[in-house]
Amino acid sequence: MLENKVAVIYGAGGGIGGAVARAFAREGARLFLTGRQRAPVEAVAMDVVSGGGSAEAAEVDALDEHAIHEHLESIIDKTGRVDISFNAVGIPNAKILGVPLVDLEVDQFSLPITSYVRSYFLTARLAARRMIARKSGVIMTVTALHSRTGLPLVGGYGPAQAAKEALTRDLSVELAPHGIRVVGLRPQAMPETATIKNAYEPRAKASGMTWEQWQEMLASKTHPRRLMRLEEMASVAAFMASDEASGMTGTTVNLTMGSLDD
Ligand SMILES: NC(=O)c1ccc[n+]([C@@H]2O[C@H](COP(=O)([O-])OP(=O)(O)OC[C@H]3O[C@@H](n4cnc5c(N)ncnc54)[C@H](OP(=O)(O)O)[C@@H]3O)[C@@H](O)[C@H]2O)c1
Repeated sequence: MLENKVAVIYGAGGGIGGAVARAFAREGARLFLTGRQRAPVEAVAMDVVSGGGSAEAAEVDALDEHAIHEHLESIIDKTGRVDISFNAVGIPNAKILGVPLVDLEVDQFSLPITSYVRSYFLTARLAARRMIARKSGVIMTVTALHSRTGLPLVGGYGPAQAAKEALTRDLSVELAPHGIRVVGLRPQAMPETATIKNAYEPRAKASGMTWEQWQEMLASKTHPRRLMRLEEMASVAAFMASDEASGMTGTTVNLTMGSLDD
């Protein structure tokens, strides 16, 4: 589905970024994988290459406009194009979660909003400038069900995810006339990722549940009574990045398996 496509992924060393990289590679994309630290990104790139795919790793801070610009220029120098930009950046949760809103300092509240939205805006804008010239491209990101439902002790994380979904719509309405699609994915928690384990295991413990019981409780809210696997989410991402999804833009796909009604 992604033969001859050039894809850049931000946060490619993470759970979601890594899974999306593997799915894009399986579909034939040429990958440029980035992250704040090189080692985890390099590991994903090596995995892709040893599976017969094409991937290069680079250290790029997805909050740094200059670093994103320079990296995109190097991709254009090598390939002449960028077809897909996927922002899978995840800000560490330690300073974000766990404090009631009434006790939250404003800087702690603002951190996820400014970081997530700034990073998505920068990566989208800088990719779009290259895509407009070719009248083609797909800009993508990932959000969470916090964007659409009230959850306790998540501080500014929910507003950050809601803002990213609004930005997806606004980018799309401006960029679609230039042949660029902008789409997002909103997956349910995937317990195989460190993010979910780190965020939920302490909450499970605090509620007197084991980690397994907590996962069962989350799974009971989905229609199939199970949680999504990374590979399932990544397969949808590959489809959405492909020309097969040419009719899809300005939307965030609900991958909560029934936990959240549209
Ligand atoms: N995991 C899930 O089940 C799930 C479900 C729904 C939504 N989400 C959301 O999806 C996003 C990604 O989740 P994830 O589980 O893949 O998180 P993750 O495993 O923590 O990966 C996030 C990646 O982003 C990188 N990163 C952080 N700040 C960066 C920056 N400024 N520049 C470049 N890279 C940066 C991290 O690299 P460093 O380690 O170098 O900082 C890390 O590799 C998060 O917003 C998360 O809340 C996750």
